[in-house]
Amino acid sequence: MQAPPFPLPAFDRLRDRVAIVTGGASGIGQATSELFAREGAHVTVADIDVTRGEKLAAQIRSDGRSAIFVRCDVSDRAQVINMVDRTVAEFGSLDTLVNNAANVNFQDYGSVTDATEEKWDLVVDVTLKGVYLCSKYAIPHMITAGGGAIVNVSSVGGVVAFGNSSAYCSAKAGVIQLARELAIDYAAHNIRANAVCPGLINTPQVQRNLADPQALARSLSVPIFKRMGLPEEVAHAILFLASPEASFITGAMLAVDGGWLAR
Ligand SMILES: NC(=O)c1ccc[n+]([C@@H]2O[C@H](COP(=O)([O-])OP(=O)(O)OC[C@H]3O[C@@H](n4cnc5c(N)ncnc54)[C@H](O)[C@@H]3O)[C@@H](O)[C@H]2O)c1
Repeated sequence: MQAPPFPLPAFDRLRDRVAIVTGGASGIGQATSELFAREGAHVTVADIDVTRGEKLAAQIRSDGRSAIFVRCDVSDRAQVINMVDRTVAEFGSLDTLVNNAANVNFQDYGSVTDATEEKWDLVVDVTLKGVYLCSKYAIPHMITAGGGAIVNVSSVGGVVAFGNSSAYCSAKAGVIQLARELAIDYAAHNIRANAVCPGLINTPQVQRNLADPQALARSLSVPIFKRMGLPEEVAHAILFLASPEASFITGAMLAVDGGWLAR
């Protein structure tokens, strides 16, 4: 099944919303930042990659939309607090958080006996603790705003084990469960929290990490569509979960995987 021609028409689904997208400068995060801005949101692109992040925010503004870039390592509490404060200072409130940043360096993964404790901490601190920190400091502003939406970007690796990826897959399973916890704890404040689980998506890190991602997509990994997904295809799932169209959906996990988990 082929992807539709992106960009698709915009419908102002996030008009006047204020969103932070972590890891927002590349791949799925970049597609989400761009899509959210086209749908009317004020977007904070939060990333450790200053060059890409500044360039993307400038591009969004030159398209007549609203965005700033804030340098933020999501595993660093002070930087997370600064990211949230800068967003509220710039846009006046905060109601939407996309927890997308993760450690996507395959060389940091490994089996439990192979991976050093330092590598384990490196992967889990960004991939899972980062979601905790960003949620912790964003949620009080969502409560003030009268509600909000959180979308955690997990992975099919949070549901099935890849092998040789113990810290990453464990952290991604935690990212799904944390969405459920958030859903329960903050429902009374009109805050929804959900998770998406991308399959193999054609992003810069996949091109960096895999010798032949297309061959992998055609073979075992994506049995139904026989291709990699596009970052835009994940961004539209995130948009749906963040938008009022998903008003009765919380604590859910949505696979965006071309059928990977259907096997
Ligand atoms: N591409 C895939 O096949 C795939 C599959 C499943 C899940 N995912 C998940 O999707 C998300 C995005 O991945 P991608 O493929 O778009 O990768 P990507 O490398 O294209 O983008 C990741 C971005 O995160 C940023 N980042 C890394 N560490 C950070 C930190 N500590 N703080 C803030 N930003 C940081 C990077 O600078 C980069 O801009 C990740 O959570 C990843 O685990 C991707």
